[in-house]
Amino acid sequence: MSSSFRAPKGVSEYVPPRADLFYAIREAFAEQARLAGYGYLELAVFEDTNLFRRGVGESTDVVSKEMYTFEDRGGRSLTLRPEFTASVLRSVLENNLHKGALPVKVWTTGPAFRAERPQQGRYRQFYQLDLEAIGSEDPQVDAETIAIAWNWYRSLGLTRVRLLLNSLGCKECRPAYRALLQDFLRGLDLDDDTRARVEINPLRVLDDKRPQVRDQVAGAPLMADHLCPACKAHHDRVRELLAGLGIGWEDTPALVRGLDYYTRTTYEFDHPLLGAQSGIGGGGRYDGLSEDIGGPPLPGIGFGLGLDRTILALEAESQQEQGAAFAVRPRCEAFGVALGDAAGRRMFTLVDELRRAGIAADMAFGGKKLKGAMKDADRSGARYAVILGERDIADGVAQVKDLAEGEQAAVPLADIITTLKERLSK
Ligand code: HAM
Repeated sequence: MSSSFRAPKGVSEYVPPRADLFYAIREAFAEQARLAGYGYLELAVFEDTNLFRRGVGESTDVVSKEMYTFEDRGGRSLTLRPEFTASVLRSVLENNLHKGALPVKVWTTGPAFRAERPQQGRYRQFYQLDLEAIGSEDPQVDAETIAIAWNWYRSLGLTRVRLLLNSLGCKECRPAYRALLQDFLRGLDLDDDTRARVEINPLRVLDDKRPQVRDQVAGAPLMADHLCPACKAHHDRVRELLAGLGIGWEDTPALVRGLDYYTRTTYEFDHPLLGAQSGIGGGGRYDGLSEDIGGPPLPGIGFGLGLDRTILALEAESQQEQGAAFAVRPRCEAFGVALGDAAGRRMFTLVDELRRAGIAADMAFGGKKLKGAMKDADRSGARYAVILGERDIADGVAQVKDLAEGEQAAVPLADIITTLKERLSK
């Protein structure tokens, strides 16, 4: 019987062995970020509610419908972060990182919270990897962020990720386009909610998934055709750089992101095997965000990659291709089985010696007999069992058994570490 409690609805939790995969792919990302010179940030999980209102935007679903907002005991309005970018920028400014070398290159990870309708791939507590480069307008920085995400997906063995790319223009060219789009949308046959959206956030209407709206907006004017010369040059340069890196993309002129701060380059990573929640990551430029939250002019770009959906993508690919796309380092490589008290004591120190030598090792506890202990060895997933009886101790050896092949041989205790290391490296 389980306890009377369950995790709150919509929370994505991870337990072993899936949690091992979760942790390993996060570590793989940390390595990509390190290789590209991004420093790690550990941030507040809740913030002043106004940071998100002003940063992410009042007209977005994220802010208007999905925030977990509460009042603390001092009467302050706080919100569990629904995303990271506003917090990253807040922290960079608060800690004066922007007064050093630019761009400030940082990344962070952890849970984010949105009160959405839970379904496969859509949770109320979910996990992101977030990376941001703040303080440069150089299109090379745009392409660098994309390359980091791309290299991470490749390091996981994912082969079917698609990059969807667009430009949303800037404060010079977007207002005229927005007005043009509104004129077009006002002429359509739309329901009241959508009409209201036309006035507040017309770009979001382009993203409407319902067929009756979709069909009507098919001929809408597109930002890509109305970019100012500077935005067009920026966008062309990003595409040229991606081509130079061998990264394929799909120009997606109707790509609109769900957060208000985006300017110029915007992108999404999409996985075709995931159905409705196929967006496994997304990002873009936010050249006005710093000023929106009261900071100096400071352009920026970055992305948030969904860890939960990346795991679903890995599982979907490995199921289709019938092989693990990404190998998680084992939690146990050698499993100790000791028979009798003296052997149990020796085994306890031997397991610690193995761990100090970098071999993942575990042992049977509770004075189990041979049969039960060997069952534990099999369950542990270890490649080798190290079996120690009273007689072995007297002979100064242990029996090393290959659990897959079934072969067993006596190995001098003094040679156990080198023998196991050599065999495990094959
Ligand atoms: P976003 O597109 O809202 O962007 O979220 C990024 C990714 O987080 C999505 O592509 C998706 O994989 C994942 N995600 C979002 N909501 C959920 C959910 N309810 N359940 C599971 N996964 C989810 C941002 O958050 C921006 N801050 C990204 C960014 C960083 N842009 C510039 N810098």
